[in-house]
Amino acid sequence: MAFPPSFIDELIARNPIEDVVGQYVNLKRSGANMFGLCPFHGEKTASFSVAPDKGIYYCFGCHKGGGAVNFMMEVEGLSYPDAVRALAKRAGMQVPEDEQYQSRYRQQERLWALMKEAARFFHQKLYEPCGAQGLAYAQKRGLSKGILTHFGVGYAPDSWNSLVDAMRKKGYTDQELQDADLVGQKNGRIYDRFRNRLMFPIIDVRGNVIGFGGRVLDDSKPKYLNTSETLIFNKRKNLFGLNYAKKSKLGYIILVEGNLDVITLHQYGFDCAVASLGTSLTEEHAVLLSRYTEQVVLTYDSDEAGQKAAQRAIPMLEKVGLQVKVLQMRDAKDPDEFLHKFGADKFKLLLEDSSNRVEYQLRAIAGKYNLKIDDERIRFIQEAAELISTLGSAVQREIYGHRVADAGKISFEAMNTEIGRAYKRRLAREKKRQEKIDLAPAKARQPEGRSIRYDNLKSAMAEEGVITLAMKDPSLLDLAGDLTGEKFSVPLLGKVYDQMRFRHRQGLEVSLAVLTELTAEEMSHITGICQKQSGAVNEKAFRDCLATLRGVTQAKNISSDDDLLAFRNKLKESKGTRQ
Ligand code: UTP
Ligand code: MN
Repeated sequence: MAFPPSFIDELIARNPIEDVVGQYVNLKRSGANMFGLCPFHGEKTASFSVAPDKGIYYCFGCHKGGGAVNFMMEVEGLSYPDAVRALAKRAGMQVPEDEQYQSRYRQQERLWALMKEAARFFHQKLYEPCGAQGLAYAQKRGLSKGILTHFGVGYAPDSWNSLVDAMRKKGYTDQELQDADLVGQKNGRIYDRFRNRLMFPIIDVRGNVIGFGGRVLDDSKPKYLNTSETLIFNKRKNLFGLNYAKKSKLGYIILVEGNLDVITLHQYGFDCAVASLGTSLTEEHAVLLSRYTEQVVLTYDSDEAGQKAAQRAIPMLEKVGLQVKVLQMRDAKDPDEFLHKFGADKFKLLLEDSSNRVEYQLRAIAGKYNLKIDDERIRFIQEAAELISTLGSAVQREIYGHRVADAGKISFEAMNTEIGRAYKRRLAREKKRQEKIDLAPAKARQPEGRSIRYDNLKSAMAEEGVITLAMKDPSLLDLAGDLTGEKFSVPLLGKVYDQMRFRHRQGLEVSLAVLTELTAEEMSHITGICQKQSGAVNEKAFRDCLATLRGVTQAKNISSDDDLLAFRNKLKESKGTRQ
């Protein structure tokens, strides 16, 4: 549905981009803009920028960008109207819309409420006579009363309809119970999906119950029954225990495999433990973790599967800038068993002993070679130098350099030279890649996204110019006369131009943040070109763009690189001094 433009203006004004983004990203000011780690792709250095004056965000790494509404769409996976509703709620604004409209956001709110009720129901059952077996099992696993309450652990009765009946009484429909994946269906009747299981509510970082993991009370299979994907639950994007771990004062996050490991760790004071929900770690998990900590201690099971999973997880966590340590479990298969056997102090020793990923990887490299054979010793040194050369800190390079020099029985000076060479080789590779990009101007000017194409580059450059200049100074639009978006060679740019023109004529705000009806990719593209435009705004530049645009509409034949370069140079000159 379309919202009135004036409503959108107020919405944008009352939701400053830095506040909206600030809920998800730790932003640091640098001049007029703010920077942080991009929430949409893993990264170590902040290439995600927010321009409070323009009301936009833009990532120089993954090229996503837009206004507050786009940000909410992207970060929460909402539709345009639902992102508007979420922002309105945040700012305490009434949304003008008809009551019948069942939005996805409202549906989500119903499901959150239902899941919370269900969690309450299961937790109560744990202490009723029908839950005796569940409670006994929890106690057998060493879980204290306090921790059962803290995690809201519950028991699903051994019945086909106890949850269904209770939730119907609370006013939830069968459809909603199905949407929440709390029930199964047979012959048109629904029945409790979780029966005779210990129930672990899965809670997201905002505190909503979004799913359940239900464990059997014996050795039968399957051990766990989990909520499958629903409107509010996606296991690839959530971590069990993160709602508490994100508040931990310990300064790191312990990543384990099992729900029970998480709960037991918290019970023993390690309130920073989380587990992926029965899936192997995903890129989304890594990005999520990087929002809340800088260091992850991998504490996977000591069996082969666990160690393999750790090897796989290390580069994923590293890629998003996390410092990774690996804890090697001894005399127990997992943290749960270890803690009950040896206690918290012994676990603390393991934590202190855990090696960082460099040590872990150096050990792995050393393991590949027989250092008694010269040839292999050389390859060990070279490979280790390659690894060390990637380290940002000189102190780290020196410490590990010394260690490898000792192990490889060479002088530190020789090792240092080797590290320097590895570093230069990498730089050269980088440079070559950059040159390739620079040498292909026409290609480089093509949009990043695949669905937006510039067929007539010269016209497209002029169209970009019209939009970026008018975005900075909307009064320039008065110079464009009766030019409409239809004349543009790139439909997307034409559409944006029409929206700007319409708003300008209505006396409304013209800015990136108020653009509507664009896909995420389109919005990112527009934000990207406006971000790149850094020249001073002047009439001449705008007129040049208009002239080119009109010119090429008449003679649609110029798109070779030479013409394009000449045109770009002209555009640069006419824009005057660059800032
Ligand atoms: P574990 O087998 O280690 O489970 O699986 P656990 O929670 O530590 O339970 P205990 O100690 O054996 O009693 C690790 C995680 O994998 C998922 C669950 O999320 C579990 O916590 N899993 C495991 C499933 O989703 N389904 C299964 O059948 C088994
Ligand atoms: Mn376990």
